[in-house]
Amino acid sequence: MTELTFPARFRWGTATAAYQIEGAADEDGRTPSIWDTFSRTPGKVRNGDTGDIAADHYHRMAEDVALMKDLGVTDYRFSVAWPRVQPTGRGPAVQKGLDFYRRLTDELLSADIRPVLTLYHWDLPQELEDAGGWPHRETAERFAEYAGLVADALGDRVPTWTTLNEPWCAAFLGYASGVHAPGRTDAAASLRAAHHLNLAHGRAVQVLRAALPASAEVSLTLNLHAVRPLSDSAGDREAARRIDALGNRLFLDPVFHGRLPADLVEDTVALTDWSFVRDGDLEVTSAPVDSLGINYYSPTVVAAGTSETPSPWPGAERHVRFVPAPGPRTAMDWPVDPEGLYGLLTRLRDELPGTPLMVTENGAAYDDYADPSGEVHDPERVAYLDGHLAAVHRALADGVDVRGYFLWSLLDNFEWAYGYGKRFGIVHVDFASQRRTPKDSARWYADVIARGGLRG
Ligand code: FCB
Repeated sequence: MTELTFPARFRWGTATAAYQIEGAADEDGRTPSIWDTFSRTPGKVRNGDTGDIAADHYHRMAEDVALMKDLGVTDYRFSVAWPRVQPTGRGPAVQKGLDFYRRLTDELLSADIRPVLTLYHWDLPQELEDAGGWPHRETAERFAEYAGLVADALGDRVPTWTTLNEPWCAAFLGYASGVHAPGRTDAAASLRAAHHLNLAHGRAVQVLRAALPASAEVSLTLNLHAVRPLSDSAGDREAARRIDALGNRLFLDPVFHGRLPADLVEDTVALTDWSFVRDGDLEVTSAPVDSLGINYYSPTVVAAGTSETPSPWPGAERHVRFVPAPGPRTAMDWPVDPEGLYGLLTRLRDELPGTPLMVTENGAAYDDYADPSGEVHDPERVAYLDGHLAAVHRALADGVDVRGYFLWSLLDNFEWAYGYGKRFGIVHVDFASQRRTPKDSARWYADVIARGGLRG
């Protein structure tokens, strides 16, 4: 069997997000984010779960960094909780909040793990939502200010900065389908939110460039959709075009080309005239970035038809039907299909030449449990990860400039609207005792990192 060897400088990481692991929701000056409010609203999150305690990472950070050191990861992608650092979304930073991230990054650096910091992984301060949230233009300016506070505090020790995680989810799950915080179902507002997230990204890039050393790398993470028409029919291909516009080009075009997709503007005329996009905005959104992060879990198969409302695809409900893709499924009921990742990577190689790529999230939930001897066997997760890393390897061989891979997730955690019922970690967390147990997949990943590739 041939080994699949990765480049010597390939970055091997794990990823988490603040609200999903930190807990300590009311400590050291932190105030509620939209996710605190949403999860405390009956019926929004399965089982009434909240992030109040989560994986208690705020108090167990050193233990978690030690776990990563044992795995041998080179990089760790985490997010900063905006309401910990700037509780009202305005004004000066809270020292204690910043101190937590100082301690975390110091701990990482002394373990020889590179910190990769995301500024926004969905925990908008509730006060900013009360003032209008992402559909409100001012929120973009608030975000730029917050980015500056974090850059001033951590710019000397964090080499890689990501502005937003998955603005598609923030805009459309948050404001159109309402299955994520803040739970609004207003299709027109969700399009405004998407633009203001792009604007927030661009303004933050400007602020970060001014505040950070020239060596700092500035990036953005998108959950791009591997969209496939069910058949070659004109109707199915048209459905795929619409979903590609809303799911991919609405973010790629403003950021990399300084334009809005013309077909999308046309598709959404019944909802908006896009007059909230002001002169000069698209220059801001396209402030150059150093790399692009992509999160990928599963492909999206579409056909001509209709979908349920409220839908996270504003304007597409009467034109598109979502078709379950065939094949094995994860515990999220997401189809397992590494080809989707390969397709996205090669597409970006062709469409964004010269832009280095990072897979900033990939992984799978399964119904893991500790057996009587305390071990957690997760062969399906190992197979999922192996298949997706093989797809990354194939993309590298085909000339895609992909620099690293961040496994989602280090720890079992609060999986948004699914609460603690969905386990994505390679380290099992017993939420009652907070005991951490590396699963078989953690050992497997450590072996992949140590040998610099897959067994083939
Ligand atoms: C992504 C999120 C991440 C995690 C995974 C499963 O959309 O960025 O926080 O929930 O899905």
